[in-house]
Amino acid sequence: MKNKFEQLKKEASGILEKIETAEELRDFEVKIFGRKGKYNDLVKELPKLPDKEKKEIGRLANEVKKEIEKMLFDKKQELEGEKLKNIAKEEWVDKTLPGKKPELGHLHLTTQAISEITEIFERIGFQLRRYPEVEWDWYAFEALNMPKDHPARDEWETFFIDAPESKKGKMVLTPHTSSGQVREMERGILPIRMMNISKCYRRQSDVTHVPMFHQFEGLLIDKDVSIAHLKGALDYFAREFFGPLRKTRLRPFHFRFTEPSFEVDISCGVCNGAGKINEEKCRVCKEGWLELGGAGMVHPNVLKAGGIDHKKYNGFAFGWGVERTFMMKEGMKIDDIRILYKNDLRFIRQF
Ligand code: PHE
Repeated sequence: MKNKFEQLKKEASGILEKIETAEELRDFEVKIFGRKGKYNDLVKELPKLPDKEKKEIGRLANEVKKEIEKMLFDKKQELEGEKLKNIAKEEWVDKTLPGKKPELGHLHLTTQAISEITEIFERIGFQLRRYPEVEWDWYAFEALNMPKDHPARDEWETFFIDAPESKKGKMVLTPHTSSGQVREMERGILPIRMMNISKCYRRQSDVTHVPMFHQFEGLLIDKDVSIAHLKGALDYFAREFFGPLRKTRLRPFHFRFTEPSFEVDISCGVCNGAGKINEEKCRVCKEGWLELGGAGMVHPNVLKAGGIDHKKYNGFAFGWGVERTFMMKEGMKIDDIRILYKNDLRFIRQF
């Protein structure tokens, strides 16, 4: 019996030496110490021994068990150490390689356009102002020579705020940046060269309209201002923003708050104002010109509403959509303008 235990120990140490993987080790452990393992087989024979041997052999059995367990433990450690060594080899990292830069975002294209437009007008003395986006009817319409119930108001499909009226009428979301004109005049500082860029809101949402968009509005009030000054400022902007070859054209139009009023067109950048390329109609403009927005000489009633002596002072104003102007610069034809505010990265990343 004694020999059998010694034998088991020897056998175990011989096999353990050859074991190379954790799996083999596990199998081996089961073969020795499992319920039907070799060690248990021997232990089962113990009760059959004469009493005097029982004690001695019992002790030996325990010792052998401990020794084999110790060998198993050492082997386990050895195998694990090797695994770690291999990881160091297989997963080696070259610390001298250049790192991966985190992705950088950029400003929204409307924001980019706003700063570019602002810079251009600042160079000719226009100062950037901000006026409320939630405004009184007075500034949005009435002071701009549009009395209550005037049909012209229909063009500015307005959002009204559900709030009590004041002496200045109902509260509205600014439907255009022209509502900043009389606010600016009320500051009482003359002459005026204002650039008002702001969000505007109108009740319309379709492929060519978003209910929230941006306008930029220039207002100049001084003595003896003429349409030539207006044209000069617009041409300057067109050259700086769109390119040196671009021109503007004024077309007679009607606004309540300017007299005379114009629609401003810019020569098409694709056909250079010709309206055709190699005898074929230009696909972007069809006739050489693209429509930008409104302009005109400030109506005397608006000056009066702003507390300015219209006999001494006069001026011009213009107001265009930022999104539209920007898209014209890029020569973009977007099927659905609402994509500008849909946060679709595939679109936004192009700018
Ligand atoms: N406010 C006008 C609009 O929204 C544009 C405009 C501004 C026209 C200034 C003339 C002068 O259409």
